[in-house]
Amino acid sequence: MNILILGSGGREHALAWAVKQNPKCDRLIVAPGNAGIAGLADCAILDILDGDTVAAFATENAIDLVIIGPEAPLAAGVADRLRAAGLKVFGPSQAAARLEASKVFTKEICAAVGAPTATWARFTDAVTARAYVEEKGAPIVVKADGLAAGKGVIVAMNLAEALTAIEDMFGGAFGAAGAEIIIEEFMEGEEASFFVLCDGQTAIPMGTAQDYKRAGDGDTGPNTGGMGAYSPAPVITPEIIDRVMKEIVLPTLTEMVRRGTPYQGVLFAGLMIGDGQPRLVEYNCRFGDPETQALMLRLGAQALDLMQATAEGRLDRVSAHWADDHALTVVMAAKGYPGPYAKGSEIHGLDLLSEDSWQIVFHSGTTSRESATVADGGRVLSVTCRGRTLREAHERAYQMVDTIDWPEGFSRRDIGWRAL
Ligand code: AMP
Ligand code: GLY
Repeated sequence: MNILILGSGGREHALAWAVKQNPKCDRLIVAPGNAGIAGLADCAILDILDGDTVAAFATENAIDLVIIGPEAPLAAGVADRLRAAGLKVFGPSQAAARLEASKVFTKEICAAVGAPTATWARFTDAVTARAYVEEKGAPIVVKADGLAAGKGVIVAMNLAEALTAIEDMFGGAFGAAGAEIIIEEFMEGEEASFFVLCDGQTAIPMGTAQDYKRAGDGDTGPNTGGMGAYSPAPVITPEIIDRVMKEIVLPTLTEMVRRGTPYQGVLFAGLMIGDGQPRLVEYNCRFGDPETQALMLRLGAQALDLMQATAEGRLDRVSAHWADDHALTVVMAAKGYPGPYAKGSEIHGLDLLSEDSWQIVFHSGTTSRESATVADGGRVLSVTCRGRTLREAHERAYQMVDTIDWPEGFSRRDIGWRAL
């Protein structure tokens, strides 16, 4: 098979690595890719938000399967355009991607099917939003309706923060994404990521993980895209999986079919589990980053079979086989992230690290300059290890982090502590 993956982060490096483990994969192209991905696939410069460009490229290169990594091309309708051109695609249509692209849409689906989630209200003006927050009090959560690169959610611990968030959003801080906002109940509990593959009809659970969102040790500092993760997430027990499938995911997917917009791809349910009850925080229409780095190291070659079966509507005939193992990924980010940071510093020591199916440094944001690997983003490396226990994976990962010589970077030292 010839396979094209769209994206350039650690998630796409992990997907590319897993796809490459499968002997079915003949040629692998990643657009645009990064310096790490270039070590195992051909990288192509393409405007991945432009469906026509991607469709022409895929047809020219006799691509058998396109795997769409990030949400932006999905929300832009790239999957629709590729399917219209007769290509096989892993990733939802623009209409189905609204489960991530519009928080109001997801809340309406939850209301229609009775899926447990935080109580909420929607607003298109600051005056009524302010009055609502003043009536409800803090803590409370303010969210821009649309995609805001992970920054459109303010968990306000006091009233002043909530009021500032409302001013900012209606003041245009997130552009059109903040033209409508939702304000919702603050949920207590433990957060975890649950992944489900869906081919439009059949849905199968595809692994669990837990993500560390704050920049600093002990869950301090600003929210980020994710500073580390591990899989499996012990808080998502088999009983919780049953309940989430029955009460949240399957009703959602049935409602999408009923509306004529079946969901095909991976559905990422962000869950809050409090007092043993799972509630939906949000849906994403793609794999999580950095959760995928841990998931793919555990799944290996079968990831391709599962994504292909998803794209071909054959999920009723496959299942994911998990070993009794654990994987953990530590993100190394540029100092300053998630605020302003410098690009262009050199990273040394990567050549001292061996790479096998137990340990890999996935690249999240790198480029090459002559023979050097150079930081080219906020999140730069995802150091990922597998072990028979989480502790083993944790120790191995931090040994690798300590071998990498990159003074301009930082990482959290406590990834995995919640489960250890
Ligand atoms: P989201 O972009 O929707 O994932 O939100 C970012 C983060 O904000 C989530 O991962 C949670 O940690 C937090 N969050 C969002 N909604 C709520 C809520 N209703 N209660 C508590 N925390 C929340
Ligand atoms: N790590 C969370 C996300 O990918 O949205």
